[in-house]
Parts: sequence; structure tokens; C-alpha cells
Amino acid sequence: KMNQFISELMGKMTIEEKIGQLNLVTGGEATTGSVVSTGVEEKIKTGNIGGIFSMSSPAKIRAAQELAVNQSRLKIPIIFGMDVIHGYKTIFPIPLGLASSWDMDLIKETARIAATEATADGINWTFSPMVDVSRDARWGRASEGSGEDPFLGSRIAAAMVKGYQGEDLAAVNTLLACVKHFALYGAAEAGRDYNTTDMSLHRMYNEYFPPYKAAVEAGAETVMTSFNDINGLPASANKWLMTDVLRNQWGFKGMVVTDYTAVNELIDHGLGDLQQVSALSLKAGVDMDMVGEGFLTTLKKSLDEGKVSQEEIDRACRYILEAKYKLGLFEDPFRYCSEERAKKELLSPAHLKKAREVAGKSFVLLKNENQLLPLKKQGKVAVVGPLGNSGANMPGTWSVSAELDKTQSLIDGLKEVLGNKVSFSYHLGSNVLADAKYQERATMFGRTIARDERPAQQIIDEAIQSTKDADVIVAALGETSEMSGESSSRTELNIPDVQQDLLKALVATGKPVVLVLFTGRPLTLTWENEHVPAILNVWFGGTETGKAVADVLFGDVIPSGKLPMTFPQNVGQVPIYYAEKTTGRPLAKDAWFQKFRSNYLDVTNEPLYPFGFGLSYTTFTYGEIQLSKDSFSEGEKITASIQLTNTGKFDAEEVVQLYIRDVVASVTRPVKELKGFQKVFLKKGESKTITFTLSNEDLKFYNYDLDFVAEPGDFNLFIGGNSRDLKETQFKLIK
Ligand code: IFM
Repeated sequence: KMNQFISELMGKMTIEEKIGQLNLVTGGEATTGSVVSTGVEEKIKTGNIGGIFSMSSPAKIRAAQELAVNQSRLKIPIIFGMDVIHGYKTIFPIPLGLASSWDMDLIKETARIAATEATADGINWTFSPMVDVSRDARWGRASEGSGEDPFLGSRIAAAMVKGYQGEDLAAVNTLLACVKHFALYGAAEAGRDYNTTDMSLHRMYNEYFPPYKAAVEAGAETVMTSFNDINGLPASANKWLMTDVLRNQWGFKGMVVTDYTAVNELIDHGLGDLQQVSALSLKAGVDMDMVGEGFLTTLKKSLDEGKVSQEEIDRACRYILEAKYKLGLFEDPFRYCSEERAKKELLSPAHLKKAREVAGKSFVLLKNENQLLPLKKQGKVAVVGPLGNSGANMPGTWSVSAELDKTQSLIDGLKEVLGNKVSFSYHLGSNVLADAKYQERATMFGRTIARDERPAQQIIDEAIQSTKDADVIVAALGETSEMSGESSSRTELNIPDVQQDLLKALVATGKPVVLVLFTGRPLTLTWENEHVPAILNVWFGGTETGKAVADVLFGDVIPSGKLPMTFPQNVGQVPIYYAEKTTGRPLAKDAWFQKFRSNYLDVTNEPLYPFGFGLSYTTFTYGEIQLSKDSFSEGEKITASIQLTNTGKFDAEEVVQLYIRDVVASVTRPVKELKGFQKVFLKKGESKTITFTLSNEDLKFYNYDLDFVAEPGDFNLFIGGNSRDLKETQFKLIK
């Protein structure tokens, strides 16, 4: 039915109208480039626009849609996109925080809620999930992804796609997902955004492609190209990537859109003029051109000159029309605009409750000396630090629809939850960054934070004075939300010096200090780890951050988050990740330095906090691994069980992680690879047997010829609460 409908429609379309469908313009609410779309109304009427993004509210969207379906010749409805990345109005933790929950049902639910809110406001296409694997904390957009691991990243990618798209795309509360940024955007050299990627095929297929593929397999309807160069051919012009891999190898049947002006940027990449690069991009397999209008202005000429074919334009147009058809827009172009639904859904009490719950589950307890946490619900708590009183920074990066004036600060959240039992004071303590210019760059898009131009030492002294009567100090420090995200790469990964000076002064008071750390990426925290008794990493927790931090600090919620990305000891270790290769000169276990081995003179090879790490207020003890058999062959399964006991004083959740190592293979394999995890709840004193099942499929990898194979031989199997502290056993895969 769809094919017939679209064929009939395309039969009536002029070439200009077909090319018009390939044009995606911005409604201007969030622009991330120097080009902004112009003449939008007129272009809608003349059939020169297929989609609009960054426009919200039923009224505005209805008005634009009315122009399309009443005034354009063929009345083709417009598709409306938006960067709904970690929530729409109700903002959930940044994706790196969501990933820290390791809770797939919860992550799916956040996507479901985001879709429910966004669709009520007229939007039917989200530019999410962002699934780029990143092993470089300097890269600001690590905050928007699921971290370093292809297995965890794949599970999250699938959960999000399913959450957004639901069971029925034509339902009024589901929207199209867009997997981005295809591909390898997270491997930019030196962690500098938009920078070149050069990578072996072997690494691409095994370590960086899996989450994109998982999203496609989960049914993602659209894919966004990445900005970066890949082995000499930028993604947006890369036919091998867009057609051979995405469509032919993975069977993707949806629509491919570029990133913002990515076609035009091929000119700066040095691939030709606008006409040349537009043709190149279309031929590579791109269907929709975001903002740059290279397709709109040059494809007809290229067709006339024989530089692109009618089939290529038809292909792109068809995929776009299919997306609209699946959304039900031809049936009712206004189905996603509902003031009534918007009123009911946006920031609804149920959504806010969920946001608070999810935020609490995203926090990672990095240190808790002498059980300083949870705090007692009494006495005086001094909150000090620039992140303690900025509601506008709590949603985190890429939360373009957040209502910043309504987002509560940490201090207000603490007071609301516990103000009747605990006396809270607040002092800025220091600027977030010493350099005013840097602070300006780090607080864009209305993410303001107070600034005090007096000498730093004077502010610190005053803050110390404010803690005099306090029983406990909560230091709210770290990054602003805009210190991570797009175009926010850093070469230093520490808490900025001026805040560190404050922290040192707070610790020197001798009072117990809890560092509540705000960050969009792994930071280097060696000094903090050594000197601050308790560190709770809260990333950016979204709309309900303040209350969620209160829940965790005072023990109403027991922390259960685990790091999805390794925290290095220093920047020089980056890129650092747990699934490394041994090298031919591995360092002996527990050694720091051995001459002529792979190591550093000045620091051990170990990270500060490994992948999968996160403490609880309780303690968990792991028994020994029991295998159902020592060896198995193709078609069989093996189970690995372990007894987990909650040996501490609180009922709590633990993320049990299973890793394997392929000991001998035809190519080098990582020292550990995550192959399973389960989040389990245990009452204090309770024991449970946790069982994982593995088959031949779980042992497969891409060999040197890029065949996906499991090779017979010896495997190590590890189970534990993080990628470092693990129980170990062995099994064999036999022919
Ligand atoms: O979706 C985003 C992308 O992640 C970065 N460039 C702009 C796009 C649309 O806003």
C-alpha cells in the first residue's frame, strides 16, 4: 500500500518538487553552525522543503504544516525534527549518566517519555540516539553517548530506538529515531571535535560499528552522517559507508540525513565546489541535506549535466516520503500537534517523578571513606561551590528544549527535600573558571552561573568562614554543562584550578567534605581521590538533579551507578579503555614499570577508576564462578553462575558484569570484553545466584577478512562488579 501510494505521488512530482523533499531547514530554535535557514515560508509554499527541525509548539508547527498542506502544489506534509537527546521538557541525565544506570528498561522508558512529550508538541523525528563509542575524554561529545564499550553501547542504542519508536510509528506518541553520527565521530584525533578519524577496518567492525548496527537492527528509521573524515573520505561523501556497509551489509531501509551543513563542509574538506560535493553526497547514499541547501540549489543542474541520475534523486525522495507515510502524516498532517496533550504531558508529575528516580540511578559513588555517606538527616550542611546554585546548568548539554528558568539548583533541591530537618547554607566559594573568557565560552545558551570578580583567595576565605558552624561540607564542583557537548573539547581534564584551590581549603578545615561532582566526561581526580573522603559523581542529572542528589546524599536512594567510561589518572593516558590489547610486551601483573615493556615512566598503566566501577553504601561479595561445563561446541550453550551476597547494611542494587577473553585467536583480541550484565536488587544479608548463558554467538568477532566468526580454543571468563575486580575461570570452545 505504501509503495503504491508513494509511486503514485512521485508520478505527479516535478524534479524540483522531488529535490525540494531532500531539503531540511532549521526553524531556528537551536542552531549549531554559522548558516541559518532563510525564506522558510516561501520555500514551503513552493515545495522546496521536506522537513524542518528546531521548531516546537503545536501552534508554530501547525502554522508551518498548514502552509505545506494548503499552499504547496502537491500538499505534501512536512516532517518536524528536533534534538530530543535526553528528554524533551522533562530532562533526564545526560546520556553518559543514563548509561551509568546500566538499566535498559529505565533507559527505554526515558526515551518513551521523551517521545510522548515531544510528539505532543508537534515533533515527529528526534536526532537521537547518539551512539558514537568514545574512548577519549577530551572529546566533549562523550557526554552525549554511552561511553567506551560497544556491547553496553549496543544494548543502550537498541533500548532507545525502541523507546522512541514504540510498536507503531503512526501512533501519536511515537517518533522516528535517528542514529548518529554515522560513523566513528567519537574517535576524532586528539579528542578535538570534528577532527579526522583514521581507523583500521578490523577496529571499526569490532569496536566502533556495533552500536550503529544494533540501532539499525532495532528498527531505527533514520541515520545521520557524521562530520568527520574517515580514512580519507568524509562520512557524508562516503559511499562505502552509506551504501555498502549501511544498506548492503546491514540492510538499512530508512532515510539518511546529513549533519548540519555537512554537505557544504565537504568543500572545506577539499572535495570540490558545492555542485560537486552535493552530487558526491547524494551518490554516496545521502537522502536529506541538513540546512546547507546544496541539494536544493545544485542537483537539478547536476541531473541536466548527467552528474547524478534520476534514480538517485528518486531513491532519496522515496525514503523521505516513506518516513512521512510511516508516521501517518499523509493521513493526518496535524496528528502530532495537540495543545491538549502538550498541557497534560509536558513536565507532568509522573514524568518528573521518573526523572528524579533515573537521576538517582545515574550517579556513581567513586569514594566513601569510613562510610561518610549517607549523611544524617540533621545538623548543619554547608554547600559550597559554583555548581551548587545554578539551576540552568543542571539539565546538562544538548537539552535544547529545557526550561532553564524552571530548573531547580542543587541548594534549592536540598532545601526542598530536607529543609525541615537539616539546615543548609550556601556560598559560591569560587568562580567556575578563573578566566572570564573561558567561562563565557563554557556557559553559552543561557547556562548562566554566578561570577564574582573579587580576588579568588578573598572568595575562598569568605566561603571557609561560611562553613564554620557546619557539621559537613558539600562541595559542588566540576564542569559547567557547556564544558562538554558539541564543540566543547578540553585538553585538561581536571576540576578547574580555581575550584581545586577552594576544595583544598575546604578539606584543610578538617571537616568532613563530600565532593558532589558535576561533569560531562571522565575527569582526572587523583588529588581528590587521595584527599577528599567522599566523591559522588552526579554528571548532569536533568530537571530533577537537586532532589535526586538529596535522595542519594541522605540515603533515601542507595547509589548503584557504574562508570561507562574509564577515568584516567592523567590526560597523558588518554585514550584509555578497559578492552585494550596486550601488546607484544605486556607489563607483568601489578607491576608499575619494567624496562622495555609497554608502560610509562611517570604513572602506572592503571586508570584511576576502571570501566564498570561504582560503589554502593552497602557491600557485595562475589562467590566463585560455576560453569555448567568446561567446554562446549557450536549450537550448544554454557551457563556461568555466581553467588552474590549483600554483606552490608543497606538493601541495594548491583550491576553484575561478565567479561571474556579469547586467549588465542587468528587476530589479536582485547584482554577483556563485556559480554553480559545484570542489574540485581538484594536486601541486606540476602544472597542470590546470578546466571549468565553464553553461546557460540557471544564469542564471535570480525577476523582479519572481516568474517564474523567464533574461533575454537581457550577462553577466560570473568564476573564481578567492575572491569578490574573480577572472579575468573576458563572454558573451551570446541569444533
Ligand atoms: O543533531 C545535531 C547533531 O548532533 C549536531 N549537529 C546539529 C544536529 C541538529 O541540531
